[in-house]
Amino acid sequence: MAYETILTETQGRVATITLNRPQALNALNATLMNEVIAAAKGFDADAGIGCIVITGSAKAFAAGADIKEMAGREATEMYLADWFAPWEELTRVRKPIIAAVAGFALGGGCELAMMCDFILAADSAKFGQPEVKLGVIPGMGGSQRLTRAVGKAKAMEMCLTGRFMDAEEAERSGLVARIVPADKLLEEAAKLAETIAGMSLPATMAIKESVNRSFEVTLAEGVRFERRVFHSGFANADQKEGMAAFIEKRAPNFKHS
Ligand code: HXC
Repeated sequence: MAYETILTETQGRVATITLNRPQALNALNATLMNEVIAAAKGFDADAGIGCIVITGSAKAFAAGADIKEMAGREATEMYLADWFAPWEELTRVRKPIIAAVAGFALGGGCELAMMCDFILAADSAKFGQPEVKLGVIPGMGGSQRLTRAVGKAKAMEMCLTGRFMDAEEAERSGLVARIVPADKLLEEAAKLAETIAGMSLPATMAIKESVNRSFEVTLAEGVRFERRVFHSGFANADQKEGMAAFIEKRAPNFKHS
């Protein structure tokens, strides 16, 4: 499929979506939003794909929502269109999504990275919610997801001042899973994605669903949910294969079913 603002690629069971508006540091306009969502949903529905990577360029993962597209809008128009709401569709993708972030991940760019299941950061990565400097507030989940990721003190400070966090601080604060050298980012992201895509798909999807559940429900409900999903995993062919392979001291050959 031909897109205007993203590139897509598949390698084995891994799909990569590359944000590609270099002239605007990958600012998230409506076209890019619709294309990322369409591509991600397509890969989610593709039985041959087990993990999705979303990445940008060496200079910018994404420098935010497109300020030029937004600047002249009126509140009623944004309310009626429910501006930014379609991004929620990305959070309904059921397969694991890794954000591979180099350079700027600001505003909507930081929020997009946080919508993914985890962030792999290049040592060049810079995260921030600088909306306050534009006279507005985060609008794609930043005030909520950043707070859950790094806690109230840091989220407040970042959102109130608009300062950027470098990769080291982001890792220390729990915003990113790991830091890799910038020139190895794509290679490391592909390796990680291949590892995940090589696991049993029903297991990785259920893990994603269970971890995300922890943000929505009480501990008791979450633990009960996990246990029921664990039980249902014994209906999967991959459970039989995974456990047989362990006992027979060989590598499992998952069928993703
Ligand atoms: C539209 C953008 C953009 C953006 C950069 N550009 N960010 N266009 N929307 N968010 C464009 C610039 O206008 C410029 O185009 C080109 O990309 C290169 O950017 P420069 O500023 O020249 O690059 P540099 O000097 O290296 O600075 C990089 C930067 C800076 C620090 C990342 O671009 C920046 O501060 N960008 C805005 C970051 C931001 O505020 N993001 C939050 C947006 S609001 P031209 O054609 O002029 O050369 C948001 C949430 C919205 O995301 C929720 C509230 C409703």
